Amino acid sequence: MDGRWEIALKINKVVFPVGGLGKRFFPITRVIPKEMLGIMDKPLIHYAFEEAMAAGIEKFIFVTRHGKDSIEDYFDYMFAHSEYFDIKIGSVCYVRQNEPLGLGHAVLCAKNLIGNEPFAVISADDFILHNKSCIGEMIKRYDGSNMVAAMNVARRDVCKYGILDVDYETDELIIAKSVDEKPSIETAKSTHAIVGRYLLSHKIFNVLENLKPGAGGEIQLTDAILQMIPSHGLAGFKFEGKRFDCGSKEGLFSAILNVAKQDETLRHVMENFYRD
Ligand code: UTP
Repeated sequence: MDGRWEIALKINKVVFPVGGLGKRFFPITRVIPKEMLGIMDKPLIHYAFEEAMAAGIEKFIFVTRHGKDSIEDYFDYMFAHSEYFDIKIGSVCYVRQNEPLGLGHAVLCAKNLIGNEPFAVISADDFILHNKSCIGEMIKRYDGSNMVAAMNVARRDVCKYGILDVDYETDELIIAKSVDEKPSIETAKSTHAIVGRYLLSHKIFNVLENLKPGAGGEIQLTDAILQMIPSHGLAGFKFEGKRFDCGSKEGLFSAILNVAKQDETLRHVMENFYRD
């Protein structure tokens, strides 16, 4: 497959798509970006940035939009204080997505900042709680095939995800022969779902440029990944750790509880709450 020429390349750039509307969190996301919702004292995007840094990534691209300025303001502060993030000057870029036309469209907006190299994508609202960086673990296994993080979900939930059609599995990877964005319970080929971590060839931009809107009328990243399977394959990485869909109230609440559980004082608060 012609994706293999990328084998020796390190993944050095990450895209954070933060241009979504966050409708499931209206009204708060009318004025506060979903990615700025907090798990305790840090917003979701902070955890995503930490994950990228822990993976050794050195260039950070945010795809932002009208109403998302607080993300830039937040990182201005973080980068001015090296105890938070010690990064080189000029290693962060912001590019605008003029309209929220979908995740695939958001990634396409980063085209000119990526150039001819493979890159990572992290969706901050997919929060993964683990001591290892999920994207870092994926990078260690990157061989030039497009790669996504994959987890098993309940069959009733397949319609919320991109679902892999499995060719074969190893202990760590699911090799997919196809992928379907938000299939119905009846038509889903498996319960292996894509969550928001991707390692992609830059060739995806040519595909995205010519892509028609898919599920929900949006330009879907999954549809572009599907078109590239003959040339670039598709591997789902079975990541370790707990993942929370913090784009939903249930997911964010559950993430907060799980993080709180790790803090002794907060654990006491929870114990008291259940005792009262
Ligand atoms: P979601 O699929 O969760 O969409 O985006 P959303 O619009 O943010 O949320 P809802 O469904 O309206 O509640 C997954 C990731 O892709 C980004 C989001 O910001 C989020 O990080 N995204 C989505 C964009 O950057 N642009 C888009 O047009 C859509």
